[in-house]
Amino acid sequence: MCGIVGYNGKNKAIDILLDGLSKLEYRGYDSAGIAIREKNKEIEIYKAKGKIANLKEKIQNKKLNGTCGIGHTRWATHGEPSENNAHPHISNDGTITIVHNGIIENYQEIINKLEKHGYKFYSETDTEVLANIIDYYYKKYKIGPIDAINRTMVRVRGSYAIAVMFKGYPDEVWVARKDSPMVIGKNDDGTYLASDVPAILKYTNNIYYIDNMEAACLKKDTIIFYDLNGDVIDKKPKKIDWDMAAAEKDGYEHFMIKEIFEQPDVVGKTINSFVSNNEIDFSKGNLSKDTLKDTREIHIVACGSAYHVGVCASYIIEDLAKVPTRVDIASEFRYRKLLLNKNDLVVIISQSGETADSLAALRKAKEMGVKTLAIVNVVGSSIAREADYVLYTLAGPEIAVATTKAFSTQLIVAYLLAIQIAYAKKTITKNKYNELLNELSLLPNKIKEILAKEINRIQKISSEFSNIQDAFYIGRGLDYAISLEGSLKLKEISYTHSEAYAAGELKHGTISLIEENTLVIGVVTQEDIYEKTISNLTEVKARGGYILTISPSKIDVSKTANYQIVIPETNKYFYPSLAVIPLQLLGYYIAVSKGADVDKPRNLAKSVTVE
Ligand code: BG6
Repeated sequence: MCGIVGYNGKNKAIDILLDGLSKLEYRGYDSAGIAIREKNKEIEIYKAKGKIANLKEKIQNKKLNGTCGIGHTRWATHGEPSENNAHPHISNDGTITIVHNGIIENYQEIINKLEKHGYKFYSETDTEVLANIIDYYYKKYKIGPIDAINRTMVRVRGSYAIAVMFKGYPDEVWVARKDSPMVIGKNDDGTYLASDVPAILKYTNNIYYIDNMEAACLKKDTIIFYDLNGDVIDKKPKKIDWDMAAAEKDGYEHFMIKEIFEQPDVVGKTINSFVSNNEIDFSKGNLSKDTLKDTREIHIVACGSAYHVGVCASYIIEDLAKVPTRVDIASEFRYRKLLLNKNDLVVIISQSGETADSLAALRKAKEMGVKTLAIVNVVGSSIAREADYVLYTLAGPEIAVATTKAFSTQLIVAYLLAIQIAYAKKTITKNKYNELLNELSLLPNKIKEILAKEINRIQKISSEFSNIQDAFYIGRGLDYAISLEGSLKLKEISYTHSEAYAAGELKHGTISLIEENTLVIGVVTQEDIYEKTISNLTEVKARGGYILTISPSKIDVSKTANYQIVIPETNKYFYPSLAVIPLQLLGYYIAVSKGADVDKPRNLAKSVTVE
């Protein structure tokens, strides 16, 4: 999974490409490259291993006046990170120059075909194959760019968003996509393309989306869209109301801490986008109360943190709406022998809307004739476009690889879904419905309260644990569900081994790992079972564990906790939204105290669009 960007216009392309790539670095950052062309002069290509900074250093003394160019930041899938494997890639004689995000699954078969026609390959990438197969059709049939690209789209299998420069067509950039994301924009200074909105938001917020197997030609002052037959098609831009600051750090040290502080606002926005006059309205997602009323079973499918939202949701939907709810990791769901029923609902949760396993799970459910609901943050993403119903979270662009604000907005939509199903199935009264919505509307301020009151204490305790090797998170019910997210946050950004456990399960093995000063974080919010959790924490303390608790003040943990983080009271179903804040901050400050690259943790990426 990579980031691609392109520009064709009046201005120097180099600044626009480098700026765009730096905004896409969260998509992959093991190598980068650009191709620039000045009028019909030769295309100049520069590539470098590592982050964009290395590429900038390499070209700092180059006079690059070209006003047409494409760029790429890479997350290796085929061929290890190297300058040779970095994009842009070219066809054998340089007729085609290309950048690509995605994976060509049948690339070896095409290599074998092209080698019979004398093509040679210099890299280990699947992308170089694309350059040569486009070149092959372009020359064999003496056709123009659109036909060469369309023939290629029919011939290759996999996912791709590509930007292509043809030697014979100066001042034109050609794009096409299937499954991988692509946004296109235009303003008076030219035309723009990118893998994601933040890269071009500075220039326009009128964004064009092309569908799978569609293409476009970006000229200096116009964009022409094509379908797979090569016919010109009409496209209307979508207005994106994200301001540029949303994509910049606003003075915070990291995007992650900035996004943690954005949670009160985006949680409020997401609630308001579905609730008015104490009524939940999912109509803009085409999801009616009747559909929910007739739902037999719910299957929630997702990856990473989104999966943890699913675990929380399963407890709430079953308890509130009495509907059997199963949660699956997408990479398991897509290959399992599923017992789905036509009256079931498959819910796919995804921030990016592009995660390959989640997208495949969606398609599998659709193939089985089961209705699909997507809870997604990126407008126009593949999962959003392919699902039967879509509920958008309004977290805005999330840059840090470790999700925080998108997670919190997904929780909100999960709560609203549970309440609406319960009301549709009459397992709750209108009074209960109103009571829950009232309490929900108080969450943004309660999150603000935690950020104001507890942040210094969390920073302090985190610095005392900057050298830990292991940590355990325990809880029961919803507290166990949110502990999963707390544990992942610490792991993914501070590289500390940690595990989340159902508190009652600890004594069946893992408690053997507890020794003097082992950090154990206990989430204790559920009034009907908290005493059980406290006794499990006491068992751990007896073996030397250092107990840090997260609980509302009405639950007395003083006899067990070595360190208490206090959160405001709320309805039992909504505690994950409050408990997750200290959990995010703990992970963040321990990572910062360890000097980790918080926004771009090693080996991870924001959304994994490959299997
Ligand atoms: C991982 C991200 O790559 O994908 C996680 O680092 C995220 O933060 C997971 O939870 C799933 O991504 P998405 O976009 O489908 O929610």
